[in-house]
Amino acid sequence: MSEKTTNKMEKIVSLCKRRGFIFQSSEIYGGINGFWDYGPYGVKLKRAVEQLWWSEMVEQRSDMEGLDSTVICHPKVWKASGHLDKFGDLMTDCRDCKARHRVDQMEDKTTCSNCGSKNLTPPREFNLMMKTYVGPVSDEDHAAFLRAETCQSIFVDFDLVKITARRKLPFGIAQIGKAFRNEINPRNFIFRSREFSQMEMEFFCSDEESMKWYEYWRQERLRYYHEIIGFKNDEIRIHEHETLAHYAKAALDIEFKFPFGWGELEGIHHRGTWDMSRHQEFSGISQEYFDQESGKKFIPTVVETSVGVDRTVLAILCRSYGEDMAETKKEGMEEDLRIVLRIKPRLAPVQIAVLPLAKKIAEPAEKIYKDIRKFFRAEFDLPGSIGKRYRRQDEIGTPFCLTYDFQSPEDNAVTVRDRDDMTQDRVSVSNLKTYLEEKIYA
Ligand code: GAP
Repeated sequence: MSEKTTNKMEKIVSLCKRRGFIFQSSEIYGGINGFWDYGPYGVKLKRAVEQLWWSEMVEQRSDMEGLDSTVICHPKVWKASGHLDKFGDLMTDCRDCKARHRVDQMEDKTTCSNCGSKNLTPPREFNLMMKTYVGPVSDEDHAAFLRAETCQSIFVDFDLVKITARRKLPFGIAQIGKAFRNEINPRNFIFRSREFSQMEMEFFCSDEESMKWYEYWRQERLRYYHEIIGFKNDEIRIHEHETLAHYAKAALDIEFKFPFGWGELEGIHHRGTWDMSRHQEFSGISQEYFDQESGKKFIPTVVETSVGVDRTVLAILCRSYGEDMAETKKEGMEEDLRIVLRIKPRLAPVQIAVLPLAKKIAEPAEKIYKDIRKFFRAEFDLPGSIGKRYRRQDEIGTPFCLTYDFQSPEDNAVTVRDRDDMTQDRVSVSNLKTYLEEKIYA
């Protein structure tokens, strides 16, 4: 990793901690590797990412149902899915410095990247499933697993969803939730963690139509990243899988250019009938779909889109982080470093900050804040000089600051300051909601 890269990641990690976005889980006990907590602003950003995905993938479509299944399900699910027998990485340990490596991530598979030693243990398989016990007895009969991906319960619940929602193929089932993997080497902040969230969608269709739907979802997900999230052409790319699982017709990753290099953000997978057939085999319950029009019975083919919430949050933080000097002069401040998160207004943790210029006019300003927070993620920010408050809001990515000044009681208007170009508009309070809606959701 270059010095510039490390530097940018360090700055982002430091900002996340300083401003309450993301910090180490159980920090007072020294932290626990691969686990992260989302603080007050982080949770707002994470929720905004999830809400946007849910709105686009479920609420604004007529061919989708939602699901919220349990983290622990019947252990046979993981036997059927293949996770218990083959879901792991090869790992090796350095006998000298005790560093542990994932073999597929080593540049030189004979040398420890930590200390340069060649004294490595032979590579051995390591299963990533996290194990627990259900009930009072901790033996193998009571073993259960934290889900390694959210999609398996979508497959298992397919028939119930189809019947209760009175659905015909093709249609999809979407879910957002936690997944757990005992990663050998959690790294790059929240990019690779042991507990993370996924947003997964499984689209059920006939085999004949499956490649058409695969192409459709590839285009649709790219449109989402470009038009809705706002990623530029040079920030994301497609990586087609060269080797495919025996049941799959196609698979690709959508990658994002993180400061530490290109990394997978989302996978789009043609899963064939593999999962549904396996659940039919292991449960003994038919998973076939009866097509009334053709009179045929078949196991549905699945096209999947699977994206990590945390990786999306990290991508947004990385592309939004900026520093500038000159801009601060515009606001009559001494030249100092402005740290700014240029997060798209619809995703910003705080979309509007209401800043009364002085304590004695705080009350009417607070009334505006209480009205506006019904429609937008808002914050009331009183103490400190106005320049300092702008700077604080810049750092958490607030796109609009409303300043209530001494003129405001007279003209019933506020000054709206734009985070990015620092322009200021005088806006009447009666027109504020419409003005902000256009700015945030246009
Ligand atoms: N159901 C398919 C599946 O789980 P995957 O490629 O293993 O496929 C899908 O994971 C997405 O989940 C990835 O593209 C990534 O965004 C996220 N993800 C996977 N492992 C992760 C980890 N250890 N930490 C954070 N996110 C992870």
